[in-house]
Amino acid sequence: MAAIDLKWPKGFLWGVSTSSFQIEGGAREDGRGMSIWDTRCITKDKVANGDTGDVACDHYHRYAEDVALMKDLGLDVYRFSVAWPRVLPRGRGAPNEKGLDFYDRLIDKTLEAGIQPWLCLYHWDLPQALDDLGGWTNRDSAGWFADYATLCARRYGDRVKHWATFNEFSVFTLFGYAIDWGAPGVTDRAAHMRAIHHVNMAHGAGVDVVRAMVPGASIGAIHNVQPVWPENDKPENVAAAALLSDHWNRAFPDPQILGHYPALIARDIEPYVMGGDMTRICRPVDWFGLNHYGPIFAKHDPNTTWGFAWGSAPDDAPKSEIGWPIYPDAFGDVLIDLTRTYKLPIYITENGAGGQDKPDDKGKVDDPKRVAYLEAHVAAMHAAMQKGADIRGYFVWSLLDNFEWGSGYSVRFGVYYVDFKTQKRIPKTSAAWYKRLIKNAASA
Ligand code: FCB
Repeated sequence: MAAIDLKWPKGFLWGVSTSSFQIEGGAREDGRGMSIWDTRCITKDKVANGDTGDVACDHYHRYAEDVALMKDLGLDVYRFSVAWPRVLPRGRGAPNEKGLDFYDRLIDKTLEAGIQPWLCLYHWDLPQALDDLGGWTNRDSAGWFADYATLCARRYGDRVKHWATFNEFSVFTLFGYAIDWGAPGVTDRAAHMRAIHHVNMAHGAGVDVVRAMVPGASIGAIHNVQPVWPENDKPENVAAAALLSDHWNRAFPDPQILGHYPALIARDIEPYVMGGDMTRICRPVDWFGLNHYGPIFAKHDPNTTWGFAWGSAPDDAPKSEIGWPIYPDAFGDVLIDLTRTYKLPIYITENGAGGQDKPDDKGKVDDPKRVAYLEAHVAAMHAAMQKGADIRGYFVWSLLDNFEWGSGYSVRFGVYYVDFKTQKRIPKTSAAWYKRLIKNAASA
């Protein structure tokens, strides 16, 4: 049966996800401070075409229009992130009232539209002022994060009941401190290990703060989990894949939920772990947020910080328009595995496909490859649920085409096309598909 006609459990939630830096713009407005991604954008050769987040989707001004798009899709839930430097321009100290007001307006609009706001505290835009003090490599960062979480919980906790501490821990720590695919662009083993451990501590502190301050809060964290397969069966590639897998898939959920670091990381991280840390990291959470796009093919490369690198998918592997391998069955397997390993309800907090979408002569944007990707993944999720995977909701990445990190605006993930010159939004075929799916699910 096509995914669009499947039956879903009552209360299953349908949503979209976005993040502050990728859509807001308004980078110099109303007292917002600099983030490490603003810095990266003005650093030579780090972002395609020299693109920046200065304007992005101009969501800072167009949030009401964007919430109306979500309402039209019929969404139950919306996941967004708060830009830490917008509410605390220097990362700590005096809050910025105008920045705090923006999220008040956004949350109120979302609720008015009948959509539950899900707030993610950190989607990679660390205040630059904190990076100047060492960022996540500084053990004090857990305390900075707890203070920032306190500010948000106090301000928004009356209306926001679903909280995520971080988005994709292993991506921003690995890319930011070992590989230089993300801000701040450090490549150093010790810095990377420190960052992992301190981010884990910040997560634990954040959970405690939100739990204490927001009555009835439902708290989780958002992990990226993807099978890591060796590019071929050469022993060095098999070993590289195993190491990357522990880094990518287990360095955060294991300590946070099971209370220990995974085997292949434990020795390297030990020098930074102090007495009592593991208890502070392993705090009870209510759900597991999963971002998933497809498997990774890995290979050995002695010239990298850890000796692993991204390899190539087989030539005949199905791929998205931007070359990411597509294996919906692997997604289903991940869901079953995660349910067994961590025993938490799972929300798919991101899933989607990148493309090079363009309007046709009539101004329509047809994206059949994205529709096929979403169809196949929603169907695989449904099949996994029949086999016992505990999935409670699904969020498409993303509502809008947006700033895609190192690729700038050169790849598009939205179900709405954005013309970045005029800021016009155009629904793609995938928006119509998603709307129909949500409608069918509600009436089933
Ligand atoms: C994820 C990120 C998100 C977006 C998608 C395509 O890794 O969480 O911000 O860039 O990939």
